[in-house]
Amino acid sequence: MCGIVGYTGYRDVVSVLLKGLTNLEYRGYDSAGIALRDDNRIKVYKSLGKLINLKNEIEEKKHELKHPTSGIGHIRWATHGAPSLVNAHPHTCTCGNLVVVHNGIIENYKELREELIKKGCKFRSETDTETIAHLMADEYSKTKDLEKAVRNSVKRLQGAYAVCVMHKDVPDVIVGARKHAPMLVGAGEGENFIASDTPAIIEYTKKAIYLDDNEIAVITKDNIKITDTDGNILHKKTEILPWEPVALSKLGFKHFMLKEIHEQPDVIRNVLNGKIYDIDGPVILNEVKLDKEILKKLNKIEIIACGTSLHAAMVGKYIIEDFAGISVEVEASSEYIYRKTTTDSSTLVIGVSQSGETADTITAIKQAKEKNAHVLIITNRPDSNMARLADSLIPVNAGIEVSVAATKSYTAQLISFYLLAMHLAEIKETLDKTYLKNLKHELIQLPTKIEEILSNTSGIQECARKFSSYKNFIYIARGINLASAYEGALKLKEISYINATGYPAGELKHGPIAMLDETMPVLSILIPGGISYDKILSNSEEAKARNAKLIALTSSCDKNIDMLFDYVLRIPDISEILSPALTCVPLQLLAYYIAEFLGKDVDQPRNLAKSVTVE
Ligand code: AGP
Repeated sequence: MCGIVGYTGYRDVVSVLLKGLTNLEYRGYDSAGIALRDDNRIKVYKSLGKLINLKNEIEEKKHELKHPTSGIGHIRWATHGAPSLVNAHPHTCTCGNLVVVHNGIIENYKELREELIKKGCKFRSETDTETIAHLMADEYSKTKDLEKAVRNSVKRLQGAYAVCVMHKDVPDVIVGARKHAPMLVGAGEGENFIASDTPAIIEYTKKAIYLDDNEIAVITKDNIKITDTDGNILHKKTEILPWEPVALSKLGFKHFMLKEIHEQPDVIRNVLNGKIYDIDGPVILNEVKLDKEILKKLNKIEIIACGTSLHAAMVGKYIIEDFAGISVEVEASSEYIYRKTTTDSSTLVIGVSQSGETADTITAIKQAKEKNAHVLIITNRPDSNMARLADSLIPVNAGIEVSVAATKSYTAQLISFYLLAMHLAEIKETLDKTYLKNLKHELIQLPTKIEEILSNTSGIQECARKFSSYKNFIYIARGINLASAYEGALKLKEISYINATGYPAGELKHGPIAMLDETMPVLSILIPGGISYDKILSNSEEAKARNAKLIALTSSCDKNIDMLFDYVLRIPDISEILSPALTCVPLQLLAYYIAEFLGKDVDQPRNLAKSVTVE
């Protein structure tokens, strides 16, 4: 949520900042702004709405700039204060000499604000961030030392922050500090960067130093200094970023979402790589650091996650219970953290997150760690905060996901759960060897089956066109595909703003059926040979009897349903247990094409941000 980039060096500062913000735009797009140190002054440019508005604004005012050599930039996802120009970052102190950008929430900002107003500070915005600018300027007035001013100020901040600061009188120095919000320094030759996430700097350097909580970075073009909040120098490891800049290109696709949907076959190959060498051999999952004897006795797992990752967790529960006979609870992180759980040292807690930065999940994981549970993290970002908290880490290797709606990371999470469930089953010896072998065989074939779906999407596009004018949808399924129904409905809601809800098919008659008429399409997910196929068919009949338009998502061999359903979407034949890895693809595409027909902003849907770093 929100994105930060800072730069000092020999390149065109404005271009570096705007490029960095472009690559971070998935994190928020309510407003954007940059501050430059130019001509012995701090110059601030801001715009409301998307980054393009800021780019146009700067283009118009380019003539005002002489030769800026450092700057900080921000894109905002509003928390405190509405999305408005005055609330847009960067924020300055009263005289405009000190400027800050900030991600996170300062919980004690009201007290600090009152104190600073009494001291004569003039506040212009409703944000918590402006408090930081005034507080740091107040500290700077006492010490005339920017680093010290930042150190003294952050000690007074409660809540979460990744903050970058510049001062007019301290040329080409950027100071960054973090607590509970990500921040890293990018190291270059004759230039250095600071950012909230790697895409901001990947085009310029692959060398990064990740800040931990309560650390402060001071960068100039030739130097990087990291200290703790008492000023003690820290010697931190420089890491090489695994990403290639090409990951941030659409490669000819109209949207990142479509590109990422099409990447799924390769993503699955990547996840499986090195894990299944031979279908007769065991799954190799060295990432799970728990002793085999402990795993054998394990009888309780808790999985915590949000949004799409929560849906992957639901599939995870189903297959771990089915394959390994271990009882699994799945809970939204935001619920887990506010109740007395029974988590203890004998519990395996699995945190699932694409970004590894979701605040609710991080808090839940920290609570689980306090209770001495072993924490296994499944994430697409092995460089994230959550990954750093892990006792065991399964990186899902989906590559950078730019579109706000998660697609390929979901599939990668599903495959990771299949591997984990099979690994547990092998240790506990709960599955028949032939069954396991067939499962592995089918798992390896998934990429080809997804390629088959992707090679001809005309049916899905036609269905999307037919149904794009409906205002409400119901998705129904049972068993392992219930999560697919929830996820399909979430995708539609997120990018087309159509009201779509997933229900267990059997629950339809316990209430939701009252809503059914010809204005409410019902999409049923049913896999021939599946344990609840006939029941879902009956539930669909019940919907038909109430005049609902029916869409089926089924597999190729299902020949008997065309009479009942108004539209049939098909996937290649597959066993029900593995089918969520295929059913998600047409559902992603259906949501994509409906949003596309409606002219929605597919990659950056309103009100959303890619990583939700506030609770
Ligand atoms: C997915 O399409 C959403 N953007 C959202 O629900 C997301 O899955 C959720 O915020 C969790 O994010 P995470 O996986 O990065 O923790």
